Amino acid sequence: MHKGKHAAALAAVQLVKRDSILGVGTGSTINIFIDELAAANIPLEGAVASSEATASKLHEHGYEVLDLNMTGSLDMYIDGADEANPNLQLIKGGGGALTREKIIAAASKTFVCIVDDSKMVDVLGDFPLPVEVIPMARSYVAREILTLGADPEYREAPRTDNGNQILDCLGMHIDDPEELESIINNITGVVSVGLFAARAADRLLIGFADGRVEERMAGDT
Ligand code: 5RP
Repeated sequence: MHKGKHAAALAAVQLVKRDSILGVGTGSTINIFIDELAAANIPLEGAVASSEATASKLHEHGYEVLDLNMTGSLDMYIDGADEANPNLQLIKGGGGALTREKIIAAASKTFVCIVDDSKMVDVLGDFPLPVEVIPMARSYVAREILTLGADPEYREAPRTDNGNQILDCLGMHIDDPEELESIINNITGVVSVGLFAARAADRLLIGFADGRVEERMAGDT
């Protein structure tokens, strides 16, 4: 068990309102969170899942999975990240669920991000930035990404839950995350980019191996 992820996941369980509708992200930290939520016997009216994998896990624990089109906006979305900076801006999508994650984050009042301390960076970009693309646009988008000074690598993986493909963009030194998010979003054929900058997290729970959890809030810096 990864102790930092576990500490952050446990802290997030404390924030969940009983009988609410919760947005739930994707990844190993979130899997721990779902297990701990169930272990704490916290009932939900339902959950909106950012991936089929998360939906299955929620079902296994007896939680009802709801369609975002039927729920309206959510009070809280909880998800992990691949990198986080001091402004609570994130790189996400290592697990390939970035587009649905962005949709749920956009539709949620509070986005709580849970990470272990290894995910904290001053400048985003050491982690290859995932970009979800329409399959026929893959090579075109890759050439456009090259002009931004990054090296796009085609992810040899099954298609995303939306039937698309992912380019992992290496060598991005992201000084202005909002600007880069907007530039990449504007490339025709891009479905979404795993930069969560314009809509960053509202609360960040950072777990450490000794069980400690540090919380940062939007506007702290
Ligand atoms: C999935 C994600 C995950 O939140 C991110 O990859 C972190 O994963 P993990 O909790 O396994 O470290 O964005 O698309």
